[in-house]
Amino acid sequence: MAEWVTVCTAGELSPGTSKVVDVDGALIAVFNIEGEFFAIEDVCTHDGGELASGTLIGDQIICPRHGAKFCVRTGEALSAPAYEPTARFPVRVQGGNVQVMDDRWD
Ligand code: FES
Repeated sequence: MAEWVTVCTAGELSPGTSKVVDVDGALIAVFNIEGEFFAIEDVCTHDGGELASGTLIGDQIICPRHGAKFCVRTGEALSAPAYEPTARFPVRVQGGNVQVMDDRWD
């Protein structure tokens, strides 16, 4: 059964920024989009680029390797050369902390 993992305090993650955490070997990028938190796997489905180090525009992250765009809210691939979504994870704020869960294997 997956468990919630604390990423940081809500105040540490300003709007328009992200933080990557290792959850049992999975790199998960947590984003603050205008005060709402979202989490996707920090892996581009084109060729494994680290998405969080790309440019964030609104709720879209641009892969720094070849420019594919992903929706941070859903993980959906929005442009070539990526066609498959990256994984999306549940996020919550609990006691002032941002928490994420890798629930893929439940
Ligand atoms: S690795 Fe992300 S677009 Fe190629």
